[in-house]
Amino acid sequence: MNFAVLASGNGSNLQAIINAVKAGKIKGHLVLVVSDRENAFALKRARKAKVPTAFVDPKQFSDRESFDRAVVEKLRQSSVDFVALAGFMRILSSYFINAYRDKILNIHPALLPAFKGSHAIKDALEYGVKVTGLTVHFVDEQVDHGVIILQEAVPIHPTDTLEKLEKTMHSVEHKLYPKAIDLFARGKLEIRGRMVRLR
Ligand code: GRF
Repeated sequence: MNFAVLASGNGSNLQAIINAVKAGKIKGHLVLVVSDRENAFALKRARKAKVPTAFVDPKQFSDRESFDRAVVEKLRQSSVDFVALAGFMRILSSYFINAYRDKILNIHPALLPAFKGSHAIKDALEYGVKVTGLTVHFVDEQVDHGVIILQEAVPIHPTDTLEKLEKTMHSVEHKLYPKAIDLFARGKLEIRGRMVRLR
């Protein structure tokens, strides 16, 4: 299966995915990295790994759907079968979701449905929960809502700072996300309602 990664920022998850593909731990072909930010470090990582890249400039489009149409066109040109969002800071339109229904994965740094949104690690720390974690899920029309594929818990210690917790969370997600992507790429995930079963 061919897949693409969409990323807006640093791309540490992208790097983990690139490494896992190279090591044969993801049985899929990473054929494209797309970003909505021209200077995203994720694009540099992709170029370094010789993965084709595309920058799609949101400023060139009047609304979310026309931007998404341009991205989907690029995915189709590269024969992309499924998509992994990795720090992609845009909400997908239903056009995009319908084009790749049940074929878009995302990683969220909290145990969903707790701490949705873009400051999940900070929110969990400030709330005082003793356990947070990572969630890999399918993307549907609602933000941080789709069917859950894998979750892993991360304990929060009283001495944790935001920086320390972020570091721990990243090290966990860099293992969990490639694992979920590999399961999908090998056709091991079966969706039944809100449940995902391993085949
Ligand atoms: C990660 O924390 C991920 O869980 C969230 O966005 C962040 C992206 O980080 N969805 P990076 O760009 O992969 O380093």
